[in-house]
Order: sequence, then C-alpha cells, then structure tokens
Amino acid sequence: MWIIQSKYGTPDFFQSLEKELNSLIEGEKNLIANLSNLSSWLYHTLPELNWCGFYLWHEEDKELVLGPFQGMPACIRIAPTRGVCGKAYTTATTLKIDDVDAFPGHIACDSASKSELVVPLIKNGKVLGVLDLDSPKHSRFNDEDARELDRIMKIITNKIF
Ligand code: SME
Repeated sequence: MWIIQSKYGTPDFFQSLEKELNSLIEGEKNLIANLSNLSSWLYHTLPELNWCGFYLWHEEDKELVLGPFQGMPACIRIAPTRGVCGKAYTTATTLKIDDVDAFPGHIACDSASKSELVVPLIKNGKVLGVLDLDSPKHSRFNDEDARELDRIMKIITNKIF
C-alpha cells in the first residue's frame, strides 16, 4: 500500500518526492509500468493539477506520442514544432508557462488548463520525451517546482530508460 507522506509546500517536499519516485521504480524495468506509477504519484502529490503525464519521442514518426498519464484524454501526437511540449523537446529545457493562452502555439487538450510545466526527459544528452503537468490555475508553478522537477526527472530518466 502506498501512503503519501510528503506534503507539497513543506521545506523537504522535493527531497521526499525524489525518494518516493525512486522507490516507485526500484527493481522494475518495464517502462510503461514505471511511467504509469510516476504519473500517478505526481498527480496525487502535487496539488492543483488537472493533467499529469508523459509524451515519448517516436524515432520513426519523428513526433511525440502520448504515454501514461492521469487526467482527461489528451492529444495523442505532438510534432516537435508544436506546443509547449514540442518546444521543451526541441530546446531540451524545462518550460514554465504561467498563462497558456499567452503561449504562441499552445495546444489546448483540456480547456481547463491555465498554466503548464513541461520537463524534458534527457539521458546521455538525448531527449527521450517530456513530462507534462497542467493546472487549472494561472501561474500554478513556481521556480522551485521547475528547478526541482527538472533535477529529479534527470535522475529518474537515467534509471527508467
Ligand atoms: N498543452 C500541451 C499539449 C499536451 S496537453 O496539455 C496534455 C502543449 O501545448 O504542448
């Protein structure tokens, strides 16, 4: 049974989150299983989200394809030239968008989404996909969220791919 101990907003939240995410994937090699549990944990641990999940780079199709997630059904394919996810993928940088409507080319999968954080999944210098977090609240994500999730996902990405 999984019990969420970490509380968002407390000083050691991201340290606890890092440990919890690591223990979720420990000893398991199946990528879909690991991404599924990671999206679930993030969705239930980070408050004020309406969507949380992964897009994975498809080498033959040259686009991002929907992976495990929590939330409403979402667009399945995202070209690297499109949306916040495409930009995070092509620039290999974490993007924090306070107001998605002000982001040129934002893809609105769910009209409830008002702000977004997209973290690239990078291993050995190659971007393998992105983690996408959506919130129904404007400016939901702060600099610490972006920095810490970027840091943690680098560690996790190295282990699961
Ligand atoms: N808003 C994203 C698309 C994915 S959904 O939010 C789940 C984007 O602009 O890339």
